Amino acid sequence: MSNDMVKKASSFEILNHWVLAVSFFVLTISGYAFLFHLEQVGSVFGGFNQMKVIHNWAGVVFGVSLFFTIFHYLPVSLKFTADDFAWIGKAGGYLSKKAAVPPQDELNAGQKLYYLVVLISGIVISASGIVIWLRPMAADINRWVLISHLLHNISFDLMVIAIPAHMYLATLANPGTFRIMVYGTVPLAWAKKRHAKWVQRMGF
Ligand code: HEM
Repeated sequence: MSNDMVKKASSFEILNHWVLAVSFFVLTISGYAFLFHLEQVGSVFGGFNQMKVIHNWAGVVFGVSLFFTIFHYLPVSLKFTADDFAWIGKAGGYLSKKAAVPPQDELNAGQKLYYLVVLISGIVISASGIVIWLRPMAADINRWVLISHLLHNISFDLMVIAIPAHMYLATLANPGTFRIMVYGTVPLAWAKKRHAKWVQRMGF
């Protein structure tokens, strides 16, 4: 690592993020194909029965990958300071070029909120998915299956709003961010501008 680059994600975190993203896309595409009965998409997966098997196991991969995010991101995301609330008050500076945005730690307040939304909706979607999956084995859980379908759909709605926004913010809206997902590193100048408190705390 050259002197003016700092590490923001470990190799494991980079790999885990790709697993999370790829499994999410497999789940979204197959999930939409179930919802709207898209025959052609179904045939790409080898028919609807096989697509169901792939969807279920992609869900397991997604759930495990989400679990691995907890150790690093949960403690960081639960720490809200006055600067985080001030960041939210200024909408992160996204609505005005003149807004003075308070310095942020390793993740800004928007990223912390985003993580918590993904984590909570991810837990709900995984748990409800397991109930729907196990349905044939337990005939008496029909009411749970109905509630689970509702929860599965609500949590997906949350993700389908949050994740495309995340993809836009992590690429086009903030040039230089995407390299974290590939190399795990960012230029020190980039980090100072966006995560001044983190740079100071880590002594980069
Ligand atoms: C393929 C499109 C995606 C791109 C380009 C992308 C990009 C990124 C980047 C660059 C970061 C690091 C940000 C930083 O440390 O400052 C990040 C973090 C993160 N990503 Fe993604 N991501 C994608 C898909 C996803 C998906 C599908 C999920 C969840 C299912 C997800 C969940 C997260 C979470 C929870 C974080 C940590 C919080 C944050 O930094 O915002 N990402 N992503």
